[in-house]
Amino acid sequence: MDLSGSTVLVTGASSGIGRETAIFLSALQAKVVLTGRDAERLERTASILSGVGHKIAPFDLGRTDEIPGWLKRLTLETGPLAGLVHSAGVQTTLPIKFVTQDKAEQLLRVNLLSAIMLMKGFSQRDCHAMDSSVVLLSSIVGIVGRSSTPVYAASKAALIGLMKSLAIDFAPHRIRINCVAPGYVETEMLAEYRELLPAEQFEALEKAHPLGIGAPSDVANAIAFLLAKTGRWITGSTLVVDGGYSAQ
Ligand SMILES: NC(=O)c1ccc[n+]([C@@H]2O[C@H](COP(=O)([O-])OP(=O)(O)OC[C@H]3O[C@@H](n4cnc5c(N)ncnc54)[C@H](OP(=O)(O)O)[C@@H]3O)[C@@H](O)[C@H]2O)c1
Repeated sequence: MDLSGSTVLVTGASSGIGRETAIFLSALQAKVVLTGRDAERLERTASILSGVGHKIAPFDLGRTDEIPGWLKRLTLETGPLAGLVHSAGVQTTLPIKFVTQDKAEQLLRVNLLSAIMLMKGFSQRDCHAMDSSVVLLSSIVGIVGRSSTPVYAASKAALIGLMKSLAIDFAPHRIRINCVAPGYVETEMLAEYRELLPAEQFEALEKAHPLGIGAPSDVANAIAFLLAKTGRWITGSTLVVDGGYSAQ
């Protein structure tokens, strides 16, 4: 896998899977554009990347209607993107009786609507390079059921539908698009989830992964494989990276 000469935008690059992906892509010689809301955290990720020419671009992806214009202005500075990894996301554990329309809309805005608008932006002329590749972070809970997380699960399942439709529309333009669906991975998001669960329930969650809980690098490797030439004939797919969680 070699990404020299490629500029890749990574959302959620200040934390967890996005941060690890940015680090790995830079080791593969990509120029990485890092986005998230918190400039300081993005600077911290940027400071540990390999190579030169990386850029931070703080932006709140909740401002969905502004995304296409933001991407257009950004790519005027960076040049067309050869890759986009959409790792920004929020998770809530909220049984359906506690779901309010407001909370559901907030989550769907960051996890799903942002992806739709990013794809609208990415498809604009001069925003993407010839032979580019997109990876959306879905989740295993968008594929197999898990209790008490209906809105998050819906957002992650919807990303797969979005990705499949766009795979067909984008193919003539030489843009590939795929999802990666991780099981539970040791990140800040999981740390928050761990706080909510009684210890024995977290232990059961760990045991539900035959290979144990994942590391962010396990997911970053899969993302890079899809972005690089190794994925040149893969589009419209969901790569499950879950330590065997969904094999049972
Ligand atoms: N960890 C897991 O077990 C797991 C499993 C399956 C799928 N996933 C998915 O993988 C992706 C990454 O998860 P993670 O565990 O790495 O999460 P994380 O550590 O909580 O990081 C989330 C990232 O999203 C960014 N973000 C959140 N809201 C944003 C907004 N409104 N605008 C821009 N950026 C925003 C955060 O940056 P700022 O706060 O600085 O804005 C942060 O960089 C998510 O889509 C998640 O659903 C995770």
